[in-house]
Amino acid sequence: MSLAATMIVLSLLFITVTVSSSPPGGFTIDLIHRRSNSSSSRLSKTQLGSSPYADTIFDTSESSYYMKLQIGTPPVEIEALIDTGSELIWTQCMPCINCFDQQGPMFDPSKSSTYKEKICDGHSCPYDFIYGDGSYSIGNYATETVTIQSTSGQPFVMPETTFGCGNNNSGFSSTGSGIVGLSWASTSLISQLGEDYIGLFSYCFSGKGTSKINFGSNAIVAGDGVVATTMFIKKEQPGFYYLNLDAVSVGETRIETLGTPFHALDGNIVIDSGTTFTYLPDSYCNKVKEEVANVVKAEQVTNSDDMLCYTSKTVDIFPVITMHFSNDADLVLEKYNMFVDVGGDVFCLAIMCSSMTQDDGIAIFGNRAQNNFLVGYDSSSSVVSFMPTDCSALWS
Ligand SMILES: *[C@@H]1O[C@H](CO)[C@@H](O)[C@H](O)[C@H]1NC(C)=O
Ligand SMILES: *[C@@H]1O[C@H](CO)[C@@H](O)[C@H](O)[C@H]1NC(C)=O
Repeated sequence: MSLAATMIVLSLLFITVTVSSSPPGGFTIDLIHRRSNSSSSRLSKTQLGSSPYADTIFDTSESSYYMKLQIGTPPVEIEALIDTGSELIWTQCMPCINCFDQQGPMFDPSKSSTYKEKICDGHSCPYDFIYGDGSYSIGNYATETVTIQSTSGQPFVMPETTFGCGNNNSGFSSTGSGIVGLSWASTSLISQLGEDYIGLFSYCFSGKGTSKINFGSNAIVAGDGVVATTMFIKKEQPGFYYLNLDAVSVGETRIETLGTPFHALDGNIVIDSGTTFTYLPDSYCNKVKEEVANVVKAEQVTNSDDMLCYTSKTVDIFPVITMHFSNDADLVLEKYNMFVDVGGDVFCLAIMCSSMTQDDGIAIFGNRAQNNFLVGYDSSSSVVSFMPTDCSALWS
């Protein structure tokens, strides 16, 4: 039972191997609370009242989420993994040196009238991205017209969007053809949407059906049951959206981070759409696991990925887990969020312990735990909001 092997651990922990020369707008971080007043030539007036969005798709084989976008002129539709933990939009490009199988047609720059390769110091501008799970994309930076949908009914057109045209790509599911980075960094989709939309997006993930990712005004999450917590950025990992986890409750037992190396006030866990499970540092994680083991009476079974697993026919026997984020943002999770049915009447806790030290590890709040919450990011006010929602029923 190698569940984790089939689950994606993408964005976080990713090592960026940089390029020969620094790409334009490359890895510099453009903090987006700064809403400048300069003219927004990227947006036509008709786009201003509208809210861009894209349809999302769940890939069951990897527990990952994809969004549809169009690239080039004439537009080619691609599906790309939604990744708040990375910064680059890339897709597989012809001519391919080494590409993984993809379901849809592959983007061919020679057939697009708006494709422009980026030039750095007189030559093409390579990128080389390696993700946390060893997958990679290698290619050249270029600009293209990227198109998504909008509530106005007109397409939302983003001319001259920087993206990676990947000719050597490996380790990805055939469901998609690339990744959409949604981090704070300047090459992400979020940073390139135009200043009226910058930093505001929301998604609602579930284990079935399709959904939407919203940008701009439609991405504001408000209403009954919303909890909001502060978003932090950290110098060491400037693109990531950090939250601060104060405690985890297993049933009624609250396990504080206070007194463990994990404790912080300025962000200790990255919220990531591109990683399936939740990762906590050993010192704290083991306390949570021990409490789960105390409460659950079912027979424990060993698991090759060192997960905590039990024999059970139903998820009902497991305790409710609550994540306590700062600002009293208590996320009461459904059992589905935290206990994964791996088949054969076995359920496993969706929390992985990692032997990270304070300096080199990253705790991750993964997408399984975020299922059936409408999750809203607002970078200009540094807040992430969660509203319990039946995501599969929301936009079908
Ligand atoms: C913003 O734009 C308005 C209208 O063009 C202008 O009057 C104002 O001075 C600008 N503010 C800044 C900070 O540039
Ligand atoms: C693709 O990139 C990998 C990783 O850098 C490299 O080992 C491999 O040789 C490259 N493949 C081709 C065909 O160039």
